[in-house]
Amino acid sequence: MKKSDYSGQLPPTYDKVSRHGVFPEPTHDETARFNFIASLNQHLAGVSAGNKVVYEKRLKPNFIKEHGRNFENRHEVHRALKKDPYWQTWSALRRNTMEMRQQAGRSVVLRQIDDLNGKAEKLNEGKPTLKLNSEIKSPRYASAVDIHCQVGGYHTELVEGDISVGANYDSGIFVTTTGGVGPGIDGGGRAVASSVKQKFTDFKPKRILDVGCTIGHNVLPIAQAYPDAEVIAIDAGAPVLRYGHARAQDLGVNNVTFIQADVENLDYEDGYFDWIQTTMFLHELSSKSIRRIMSELGRMLKPGGLLLQVEQPNYTPEMDLLEQAIRDWDCWYNNEPFWSKMHGMDTKEIMRMGGFSDDNYMEFKAAADTVDGDVTKPAKAIFEDHGREALWTVFGAWKS
Ligand SMILES: C[S@@+](CC[C@H](N)C(=O)[O-])C[C@H]1O[C@@H](n2cnc3c(N)ncnc32)[C@H](O)[C@@H]1O
Repeated sequence: MKKSDYSGQLPPTYDKVSRHGVFPEPTHDETARFNFIASLNQHLAGVSAGNKVVYEKRLKPNFIKEHGRNFENRHEVHRALKKDPYWQTWSALRRNTMEMRQQAGRSVVLRQIDDLNGKAEKLNEGKPTLKLNSEIKSPRYASAVDIHCQVGGYHTELVEGDISVGANYDSGIFVTTTGGVGPGIDGGGRAVASSVKQKFTDFKPKRILDVGCTIGHNVLPIAQAYPDAEVIAIDAGAPVLRYGHARAQDLGVNNVTFIQADVENLDYEDGYFDWIQTTMFLHELSSKSIRRIMSELGRMLKPGGLLLQVEQPNYTPEMDLLEQAIRDWDCWYNNEPFWSKMHGMDTKEIMRMGGFSDDNYMEFKAAADTVDGDVTKPAKAIFEDHGREALWTVFGAWKS
């Protein structure tokens, strides 16, 4: 077998993840641990195929025998899966990889926290592009549980000037995504930036807003693609913003202002922004806050402006019920309380909440690197010959 024939079978290795000035540097053993967890994750993604066998051969026939009909929704499928030993084992292992990933990232970070906080402080010192506000509290829906097992959520500060939750987030994304987001963990941002550039050649945004930016890794490629634009990145959590700002400074991206604010209450005037972006944000919002936030985003967007949202695919009547139940795993076993409800929503309905007309609705797949401009085919992986980058689902609309 040639070396390239192995591609995709193992995730890329952690040493390929890009470093920057505040990146938590792992030891040899910590690197080995990250590699083990990433490989176990990839293995579990592969053997998830066994859930399909169990579903077709055991669960469906048993359900039909008992109820005289097939499954009608993902919740019925999940209730049946929950009783099956294959799902129980697979799901328990998967939960374990999340707990191990959080523990691994956190221990790497906390071991060197004073050093990391000091480096961030130096990069952030006196910069007008970081605006923190200690009056802002992380909303209840974003902080009541440790979302995806992330201890301390996005907001917890252990000491003054703390960046630990941001650093932990950065260090472990590679593991959860098995490298699918590229070495800079910014595949979503690169995919959106390159799609918008390719698709909308006349679009020249002057003011761009990214909401729920966390450590800003997905907004930097957008800021780099439009270097003359004023880019505002908002989050409620101070430690992720401190980390994200320091990271951006070290990477030399200076046109992004990181602001601590609640997206539900922003004081930008109506129509201030040309482009508003959310990336992997909606699924962590309660249904009530989605409504409020969509209305606020619709208000702040200029007529003729663009709102785009990157998310895992929402469920549609065409999507197989088993696939929906498997995609719902994060809700029931990974502390993502709003995941199922949000992914069960009609994306056009979400856009209507912001006042967007169905006539202006769009939906597309985006890839960071494309073959001959075809975004349905991600090109060779950024990680040498290892696997391929993720394809991103994007939906949104132009404002009339
Ligand atoms: C899943 S993360 C978003 C990830 C990030 N955009 C990315 O590209 O991967 C959700 C973020 O939204 C923030 N958030 C949630 N509700 C918010 C609100 N009302 N105002 C500001 N930030 C909020 C959280 O603090 C968290 O950092």
